[in-house]
Amino acid sequence: MRQAIHNLEASKIREVANAGLGRSDVLAFWFGESDEVTPEVIRQAAIDSLQQGETFYAHNLGLPELREAVAQYMSGLHPAIEASRIAITSGGVNALMLAVQALVDAGDEVVAVTPVWPNLTAQPAILGARVRSVPLVPKAGQWTLDLDALRTTVTPATKLLIVNAPNNPTGWTLASAEQQAILDHCRQTGTWILADEVYERLYFDATPKGCAPSFLDISTPDDRLVVAHSFSKSFLMTGWRLGWLVLPPVLMDGMGKLIEFNTSCASVFTQRAGIAALAHSQEITPRVVAHLKACRDTLVPLLADIPGVQVAPARGGMYAFFKLEGFDDSLALAKRLVAEAGLGLAPGSAFAPEAQGWLRWCFASKDPQRLVQGVERLKTWLAAR
Ligand SMILES: Cc1ncc(COP(=O)(O)O)c(C=O)c1O
Repeated sequence: MRQAIHNLEASKIREVANAGLGRSDVLAFWFGESDEVTPEVIRQAAIDSLQQGETFYAHNLGLPELREAVAQYMSGLHPAIEASRIAITSGGVNALMLAVQALVDAGDEVVAVTPVWPNLTAQPAILGARVRSVPLVPKAGQWTLDLDALRTTVTPATKLLIVNAPNNPTGWTLASAEQQAILDHCRQTGTWILADEVYERLYFDATPKGCAPSFLDISTPDDRLVVAHSFSKSFLMTGWRLGWLVLPPVLMDGMGKLIEFNTSCASVFTQRAGIAALAHSQEITPRVVAHLKACRDTLVPLLADIPGVQVAPARGGMYAFFKLEGFDDSLALAKRLVAEAGLGLAPGSAFAPEAQGWLRWCFASKDPQRLVQGVERLKTWLAAR
């Protein structure tokens, strides 16, 4: 096996979840997905497609109807985007890997803003890139970007900058002015930007379009910018494996070839479900977001009330990221919480060394009472120590 694969760290989130395997009494909030099933109208579209016998290969870049629907959906949120710049992928994680495969050679330098979902740093490492990080800085529970640190770290030697905002796990979001500063800098250094914007609709500040600031709002089609998206989060479709990329025209031919050699295409019945999701986005997504906001507003004040907890309300995403005073090893802490409190959280150290001592709590819970019960378990466990 290649050394880069040997060097990959096993998922610390899985390590904690495995410790709770087979225990039905554990309240689990460790994975980044809602416990609510995909809306019926989306499931029905897939059923209809299968009933009609759509069981064959499709175009590498996706069904033209879906690419058009994505382009229209994105053009409603951002300046107009042509369908010819959209590639349909088998999930957000596949979109990200394809982008990295298209841009990064072994030995290239890649910079990622961290803490971040570990797949984003593992993917370039798999390809043999050298991954450096620009750590966000926690201030009273809120994580912030030091733009000067980013400008110092990203140099003409940097092939790719990876930014995920709204961020998993911290809930950090980027302001448009910060995105402009990053784009200006990367234009100067000739660095590509891979913007993971899968949580753009899960944004809790009131905005006219219900969407976080995006690099697409400030860039031109020819910028060295690739934006990754997913149906998983805003449409409750994690198990479907459907996502998309917005690419500059110069990458489209190559992307078609890359998809051929990875998955060849996303399955057609899944793409039909994607078309239905977009057709109903104005009902589905605002409901999902309003519910998530209520979940956040249930969980965060309860956590903040616990002595020794440092937490700030996430502006986007589906996670509360918090620090418990007196605990420096988050993996050990998360395992103890499973074993002794029946509470399943993800350890901060899964996302970056600087998040050691932090825990991630996915608040996408259909029944917010589960969150209240989880906090009770945490408080009882802390009191008994
Ligand atoms: C930041 C981020 N990007 C991308 C993804 C990929 O999502 P999916 O592969 O389900 O589309 C996730 C999933 O948790 C994520 O947290």
